[in-house]
Amino acid sequence: MARDIKELVKLLTIEEKAGLCGGEDFWHLRSIDRLGIPRIMASDGPHGLRKQKDNPDHLGHNDSIKAVCFPAACATGSSFDKELLYNMGAALGEECQAENVAVLLGPAINIKRNPLCGRNFEYISEDPYLAGAIASSFIQGAQSGNIGTSLKHFAANNQEFFRTTVDVIADERALREIYLAAFEIAVKESQPWTVMSSYNKINGIHSSENHWLLAEVLRDEWGFKGCVVSDWYGTSDRIAGIKAGLDLEMPYSGGHNDKALAEAVKTGDLPEAILDAAVERILTLIFKYADNRIKAEFDRDAHHELSAKIEKESAVLLKNEGGPDNGLLPLKKDRKIAFIGAFADKPRFQGGGSSHINAHKVTSALQAAKARGIAVNYVEGFPADRDAHDPAALKAAVDAAKQADVAVIFAGLPDVIESEGYDREHMRLPECQNAIINAVAEVQPHSVVVLHNGSPVEMPWIDKVKSLLELYLGGQAVGEAAISLLFGETNPSGKLAETFPLRIEDNPSYENFPGDGKAVYYHEGVFVGYRYYDYRKKDVLFPFGHGLSYTTFQYSNMNIENSSIHFVNGSETIAVTADVTNTGKVAGKEVVQLYIEDKTGAAIRPLRELKGFEKLSLAPGETKQVVFTLDKRSFAWYHTGLGGWYCASGEYVVIIGASSRDMRLSAVIQVASNAYPPFHVDWNTTVDALLKDPRSKQAAEKIFTRHRDQSKWEPGVDALGSGGKWNERAYFEAPLRHLYMTQRMSYEEVEKMIEAFNKLLC
Ligand code: BGC
Repeated sequence: MARDIKELVKLLTIEEKAGLCGGEDFWHLRSIDRLGIPRIMASDGPHGLRKQKDNPDHLGHNDSIKAVCFPAACATGSSFDKELLYNMGAALGEECQAENVAVLLGPAINIKRNPLCGRNFEYISEDPYLAGAIASSFIQGAQSGNIGTSLKHFAANNQEFFRTTVDVIADERALREIYLAAFEIAVKESQPWTVMSSYNKINGIHSSENHWLLAEVLRDEWGFKGCVVSDWYGTSDRIAGIKAGLDLEMPYSGGHNDKALAEAVKTGDLPEAILDAAVERILTLIFKYADNRIKAEFDRDAHHELSAKIEKESAVLLKNEGGPDNGLLPLKKDRKIAFIGAFADKPRFQGGGSSHINAHKVTSALQAAKARGIAVNYVEGFPADRDAHDPAALKAAVDAAKQADVAVIFAGLPDVIESEGYDREHMRLPECQNAIINAVAEVQPHSVVVLHNGSPVEMPWIDKVKSLLELYLGGQAVGEAAISLLFGETNPSGKLAETFPLRIEDNPSYENFPGDGKAVYYHEGVFVGYRYYDYRKKDVLFPFGHGLSYTTFQYSNMNIENSSIHFVNGSETIAVTADVTNTGKVAGKEVVQLYIEDKTGAAIRPLRELKGFEKLSLAPGETKQVVFTLDKRSFAWYHTGLGGWYCASGEYVVIIGASSRDMRLSAVIQVASNAYPPFHVDWNTTVDALLKDPRSKQAAEKIFTRHRDQSKWEPGVDALGSGGKWNERAYFEAPLRHLYMTQRMSYEEVEKMIEAFNKLLC
């Protein structure tokens, strides 16, 4: 029989209810023995289980149980593989059940606004569609094991600098289209059991007490059913928080806030019904887990293998000069190979901070090569944990490279440069690494760089090396994946989930990151990542969606179900198909991407935006059809006047490509929409606005053409030097009050016209 939570709430005292709205300790929710309310536990997250037993601490310094470290989101986002992320989530769900952890604190899906954000390694993408889709699959997988996830950090936590107090100043369109959209997709598609509010403020209000964010957007608009939990110590005003929709404060507030909540109910400041609703949601969470325990055992070695598989599908081959036929990669085992750089021995496979996993074992590239009987000559060259220039080590690296047929340099960012808690100061690799890569490439034309980093780095040596494999932070089996990819056992298939700019100065938020510690202005609006670089035609090091393979793919036969679509109630969809053929010699996987370009001119929008992706597995010579389904949202932008998603009628281009800059197929589609933004006509409404709106266009053309004739003006005719052009602009830009003054229309006539247009437009 289903448990009656409402009845249970009635049995609680005000103090007990207030107490349930906060943690019992660092990781546990409150229990109440007299009513059989059990104590459940939450743990980080997101790419492994950080279950601390004794002596819990915030930043993950103290040991947690031995668990499996999966690749971080910087890597898994690049897999573009929903099924893979479902499986990773399911494995973590199993681990949580086996360890009696009810809520896994992840996934983290904040948008990568600037490559220097210290926590980008934990985040999925600069693109909300991709981040939302990947997060949804992960959540569905994890929750299939009847544990909860915590979608975090809601919202706009895009930097570490003064993260607990900084005020993010952003316009609603940017928030809706970029910073909230990934959360929206994940909430609607997968209903995470909890959402974690972010530390920062948004437009002056802390997320944990932001009614608009938590109540209006998250619950009312998106239909979120679960609990909102604060980020750890992320509650500023507890009473304002609960009124805004924050259910659970974590961790323990020392009892202060429990007392304050109870007191607020007693004085009438906080309606008891609000407290009851929060308690009901918390109890639902507790019993959803406790009443449905799944007996699970977790096999660390099997999950180690899964971790390797996920990394193999996520790593991105960024460069392989000569292509599949003449590229240096995949390497041949019988060549004389030098491995240079300490990351070959001690890979950096995860980031620092709350997501830090106590990995039960780690496979390095050296170990994985040895296990396969591949002989390599290893020289350390540079350390993995700091920038330390050592001329003798450099000489040893150069000598080893000279004596080899191929040099593979295992480079990356040391922990100290990139972590939760602080942002990077620059986008460079340690100087000692750049020096060695340059020196090695100088003497060895067959050089490969393998990167271990959580977000982009500048590559001053990129033209000197033949190949480049981006491993990101690839989890505890990263060495296994590296060798498998380098030697061609696995064909690389990851694609970048973020743009690699040439220089940090090219990033659209450059002037406004990370701000002065008090406020940070998101002046770039919706132009984040490739949305900016593509619009501004900026050269980049590697574009969003880019990734190579040891085979080649040909795209053909694009077809849109219909050349037009009419959105009557907004639920209509249209199918787009294309064929992809593996034209190379080995099996491989291709991430096929669909972008939409808005040609209507109704708003300033990015050149193109990702609205679909599929990963196809193809044998040599094989062709498969990819199918995308587009809906109103695929074409829409957030119209603040309308207070909703708006899709202007007109022409759009549907593009299918292999990256945001490698467009292979395209087709035009006409979109008609029944929804219009509010339009109130007054004396300052322009002729142009009335001519453009489909509802007033016809009537406006009749009236204004008459006026145009009367003023003997023809568009484009250069009557008086620049006057023709000027007249043309003046005609379109004229407010209606000008007609009264210049077009010999009476005041009353114009007034009547305004009234008539308003009738037409309502
Ligand atoms: C982090 C969260 C994490 C929590 C618990 C916070 O500092 O921002 O992501 O889940 O600590 O460790």
